[in-house]
Amino acid sequence: MEIFLWGVVVVGYLVAIICVYKVYVFAFSLFNEVPFVASDTSIIRESLKYLDLKSTDNFIDIGSGDGKVVFLAHKLYPNLKSYTGIDFSTPLILQSNLKRKLMFLSNVKFHKKDALMYNYSQYNKVFLYMTTDMTSRIMNVIKDQLPEKSIVVSAVFGMGEFEKENEVTVHKVKLNKKEVTITIWKK
Ligand SMILES: C[S@@+](CC[C@H](N)C(=O)[O-])C[C@H]1O[C@@H](n2cnc3c(N)ncnc32)[C@H](O)[C@@H]1O
Repeated sequence: MEIFLWGVVVVGYLVAIICVYKVYVFAFSLFNEVPFVASDTSIIRESLKYLDLKSTDNFIDIGSGDGKVVFLAHKLYPNLKSYTGIDFSTPLILQSNLKRKLMFLSNVKFHKKDALMYNYSQYNKVFLYMTTDMTSRIMNVIKDQLPEKSIVVSAVFGMGEFEKENEVTVHKVKLNKKEVTITIWKK
């Protein structure tokens, strides 16, 4: 009985620590132009379909948050060459790297980087869940760096100014009774 009570206390403390950590990470991300909000699983699944993922692909989620998209991409498409997430939040990158190590995933990587100052030349399949303005700024950085035949998918938000000058396809899909926009750019 005593062991059971200690178990309840320890689990209670762990749950409390995780809750405080999540509130802290979310609250601090509100100071950023694009705060951390994890995307919906059904939206990620649908968006990944448009990337036409293959075993030779190097996938990246720009602004990877807690790594949800990267881990889901690995689960749904386990044979890709590499899976990368970048984010400028230290705790979110630490959290993602901890999970990656616990899962022994050697071809999954997370880097603490500014999305507007990174070299994207090794990636050919890109996922974005940012604001329209940030997506358009990132597109202007990555469009020349990405190799030929690369595909970029932006979930929910469009590509802003970038859409007017370049070829993008906008898909409207119904998910859980809500209409969701998925914007695709192919190089
Ligand atoms: C809306 S969240 C998306 C998280 C994740 N991609 C998902 O779909 O679940 C946006 C993320 O982008 C990160 N972010 C915003 N601006 C950034 C920048 N300039 N460089 C790197 N990361 C950035 C934030 O820290 C946040 O975690």
